[in-house]
Amino acid sequence: MCGIVGYFGKREAKDILMNGLFRLEYRGYDSAGIALFCDGDINVTKAQGRLKELEIKLNCENRGSIGIGHTRWATHGKPSDENSHPHMGCEGTFCVVHNGIIENYMELKEALQEKGCDFLSETDTEVIPNLLEVYNTGDFLETVQKVVSMLEGAYALCVLSKEFPEEMIVVRKASPLVVGKCDGEYFVASDIPAILEYTKDVYILEEDEVAHIKNKTIAFYNGEGNAIDKEITEITWDLESAEKQGYPHFMLKEIHEQPEAVEKTLAGRIKDGTVQLDLNLTDDFIKSIDKVAVVACGTASYAGRVGGNFIEKYLRIPVEAEFASEFRYNDPIITDKTLVIVVSQSGETADTLAGLREAKSKGAKIVAITNVVGSSIARESDEVIYTQAGPEIAVASTKAYVTQLIALYLLVLQLGKIRGAIDAAFEKSWIEALIKLPEQITSILEQSDIMEVYAAGLKDYTSAFFIGRGVDNVSSLEGALKLKEISYIHAEAYAAGELKHGTLALITDDVPVIGIATQKHLLEKSISNIIEVKARGAITYGIGFEGEGQLRRTVDHFYPIPDALEDFAPILTVVPLQLLAYYASLLKGNDVDKPRNLAKSVTVE
Ligand code: F6R
Repeated sequence: MCGIVGYFGKREAKDILMNGLFRLEYRGYDSAGIALFCDGDINVTKAQGRLKELEIKLNCENRGSIGIGHTRWATHGKPSDENSHPHMGCEGTFCVVHNGIIENYMELKEALQEKGCDFLSETDTEVIPNLLEVYNTGDFLETVQKVVSMLEGAYALCVLSKEFPEEMIVVRKASPLVVGKCDGEYFVASDIPAILEYTKDVYILEEDEVAHIKNKTIAFYNGEGNAIDKEITEITWDLESAEKQGYPHFMLKEIHEQPEAVEKTLAGRIKDGTVQLDLNLTDDFIKSIDKVAVVACGTASYAGRVGGNFIEKYLRIPVEAEFASEFRYNDPIITDKTLVIVVSQSGETADTLAGLREAKSKGAKIVAITNVVGSSIARESDEVIYTQAGPEIAVASTKAYVTQLIALYLLVLQLGKIRGAIDAAFEKSWIEALIKLPEQITSILEQSDIMEVYAAGLKDYTSAFFIGRGVDNVSSLEGALKLKEISYIHAEAYAAGELKHGTLALITDDVPVIGIATQKHLLEKSISNIIEVKARGAITYGIGFEGEGQLRRTVDHFYPIPDALEDFAPILTVVPLQLLAYYASLLKGNDVDKPRNLAKSVTVE
């Protein structure tokens, strides 16, 4: 996904911008560029491909202490030098980098073309510097505010102008942006890691806010154009925690961080043997909830489905768990008695945010589960339960998923207690199980070599099936998604009982099947389904509890997870599935942390 960096200060901007762009590489990109103020001119350099290509094009003439940079992930127009940012207006006065999408760019572009503007790219972005030139009032801030009022969509902008050489303007609308400050220098970034080595003091821009840096001072304005005061937020995590720490890949590091991430997510939330989540929801509202909707995308949505399963099972509230991209357009049935649980690692996923807004506009109360403090989803929700996973860099989500599950277990307990749906004995049994998880995950990690061997057996197949029932079916979905996204092996997750309604036709000795069977009341049924696929020639892998013998005897290859309450199987089964995907990807020689076509944070629809 696109990334923005900006620098305004006294040092060579080129070095700081390139450094920041390298820090944003993990988000995924297909081209990059920087613009530098030098001797009254704006000097733009762009290159399709990796940042190395851009570095090759830069030379000692690219100087200046004010500049902006961008990594692009194509949305309008193919990856190319021309479509890369920064974009200049056709008069060469204004220069812009942009994250997000300008929805009305076609009509703006036509109007600009009628006024004689020539466009060099296929991007939506290029309308912005051209609008700035056409509507230039001679006052930088006023001009930007005027143009912003003409734009529809979601965007973050960083703007320079030749006419205003000692100024920089940044604008945030539904796409994250921060401005870091240190000794008269300013650092702009769409993601905090890009500037963390320079400063930990940042201004987090809110919706529609504008920051105007001028002659080494900064002023902020709200969407109505009024000057506002903003407080500095101190970032408490350091850059080291965003780096690999000796692991060959971020994904493996993040898988191994899960015991600690679980501990941190539980910390302070269990006191005197009971769950104490201080929810900003009244007991009256919690008792009145007659429907729960879970809104999320991808892996986060599978975490939400597991949580939804327990809400139905123990709280007996109907749950609708839908992908946010469907939910937002399905005219969902939401009332002021609906609780919407929004799950998002980044807190910025466009569809999830739109689903949140849709639900909120219909009167629902929103509880967000997110990993990023100050993210859009966190700020727009009634209540936030932060996962304490730390920065997740690998595109494939691992520790975020597991900590989302932890947050959901805590939420189920808290809601259940207030509604009188669960008693002290139940709470005690869950808390004991939760506390044991870090040690149990560690023991799974200690036997990673089993999954490495299984991955070696799977890597040359072109297709695999993951089957399970109940929460094991959700774990199958997550296991299949992990395998697909980083090993590029086609993987299909199927409710085990549905196989014989058509899909069994695909099972041959060329299609291995991974069966997950942890739920006692479904065990016999799941094992019958595994026997069905075995009979069609499939090699079978089983994941089940250590102490369970039937599954172990049925499958060709068994992976034992530590014995635990079966409600906690979704955490214990997903860790080996993450390892399976990791090793399959590694053995195939893929780019584990940056799989093709994918980006870490999906801030466009
Ligand atoms: C898969 C993965 C994605 C994300 C999804 C939502 O490994 O990471 O499926 O879970 O894009 O992202 P967030 O949680 O940031 O809203």
